Amino acid sequence: MIFIKTPEEIEMMKRSGQLLARVHKEIAKMIRPGISTYEIDQFVEEYLKEHGAIPEQKGYRGYQYATCASINDEICHGFPRKEPLKDGDIVAIDMVVNIDGWLADSAWSYAVGNISDEARKLLEVTKKSLYVGIEKAIIGNRIGDISHAIQTYVESEGFSIVRDFVGHGIGKRMHEDPQVPHFGAPGRGPRLMEGMVITIEPMVNAGRYESVLDSNGWTARTIDGKLSAQYEHTIAITKDGPIILTDQEELE
Ligand code: MF3
Ligand code: CO
Repeated sequence: MIFIKTPEEIEMMKRSGQLLARVHKEIAKMIRPGISTYEIDQFVEEYLKEHGAIPEQKGYRGYQYATCASINDEICHGFPRKEPLKDGDIVAIDMVVNIDGWLADSAWSYAVGNISDEARKLLEVTKKSLYVGIEKAIIGNRIGDISHAIQTYVESEGFSIVRDFVGHGIGKRMHEDPQVPHFGAPGRGPRLMEGMVITIEPMVNAGRYESVLDSNGWTARTIDGKLSAQYEHTIAITKDGPIILTDQEELE
């Protein structure tokens, strides 16, 4: 069942989204060779608590951290760890913020020091694929229109789109209906209606799209060991078009 949100509820989710966007801007300043994803996770947990927010991922289905930190061939749900980031790594940091019971979800990929040309292109294409999807998040379109636009763009750039993890509705709960795949046929799936709030969160692989699950039961990585990147926003479907609740551009 899809839960439609009122404008007031979307405003509440935007508060969470804007705090989340601020956290990503802070992380961007911290990222460098030598810092660990564990330090970043500690910072995020503190920052959210200081600003009256709950790190929603911590304790979710037994997950232990405020953030997911997925390095290089890790697709998603990487555990923050004390081993420092190295020059040339790419890392996706993902988190869900809860203020007064309303959630927002956003992941962002970061370059650590100097990265390869291929890694840089992967980051650019993955970010652009998110915005290609957002453009299709308009009333009257279907979920499949978002899915198809993202897949077509990613594959036209010579990369592959992950199938095993998808975007989702979000509100008072992290994962609501509908599912939002980043691949598939246009004109299929639920129709987008005013007041729906969804995440779009393409995970793009440099090589093959298949994933394998780590022995930790959480972390997915690429089957061929090649790089993977992710960007994610929380999007409200409105009469005025898609509103990016986790937008970093609007921040002063
Ligand atoms: N933020 C993730 C998503 O996009 C959820 C991470 S799973 C968790 O759905 F357990 F870490 F929370
Ligand atoms: Co999500």
